[in-house]
Amino acid sequence: MRLRRASAVWNNHSGTMIQIIEITSDDPLYESERLLRVKVLREPLGMPGGTEFFPFEIESRHLLALLDDKVIGCVLFHPRPPTVKLFQMAVYPEFQGMGVGRLLVDHLEKEAAAAGLTSVFCHARWEIHRFYTRLGYQPVGEPFEEIGIKHVKMEKRIER
Ligand SMILES: CC(C)(COP(=O)(O)OP(=O)(O)OC[C@H]1O[C@@H](n2cnc3c(N)ncnc32)[C@H](O)[C@@H]1OP(=O)(O)O)[C@@H](O)C(=O)NCCC(=O)NCCS
Repeated sequence: MRLRRASAVWNNHSGTMIQIIEITSDDPLYESERLLRVKVLREPLGMPGGTEFFPFEIESRHLLALLDDKVIGCVLFHPRPPTVKLFQMAVYPEFQGMGVGRLLVDHLEKEAAAAGLTSVFCHARWEIHRFYTRLGYQPVGEPFEEIGIKHVKMEKRIER
């Protein structure tokens, strides 16, 4: 098992200590990450467990937000030099709006920049794409349909 890289960060909104860690798919916390993704990203669309799995899942990098050692948020990223695909961004509803999503994306961008990548892109769900706008991402091209709902590609240049 690869060593987890941990960094403690202070959440300004709530004054709560959230930890951002990176895991691999053989980590015991991977199950909790998959459950979060099913609950937040798949079940609300009527999609069953298992559909959250991506073909490039295992070689992707997995960031988790922990509160009291429990997984409350996650985001995955798959380097495709010179860019990186951000996907499976999710925070449990009771912890949304507290800055957890921003912490995860900030951490992802730092890791991507450290790996020499120069931009991040994602397929954002249309209904939440302004979350990415708040984080400095810009829409690219026309909206399109994916997993039955409207999406738009969003992109941001990152610097070391
Ligand atoms: C989208 C999601 C990941 C955001 O996470 P979060 O922890 O609630 O977001 P944050 O609290 O870090 O918000 C960061 C900024 O984005 C803004 N924001 C968050 N959600 C937003 C939304 N739906 N629309 C517009 N702005 C939003 C916040 O106001 C905040 O702005 P500020 O820091 O400038 O005040 C979370 O709501 C979620 O899991 N949603 C359901 C799953 C989903 O749609 N995932 C994305 C798939 S592409």
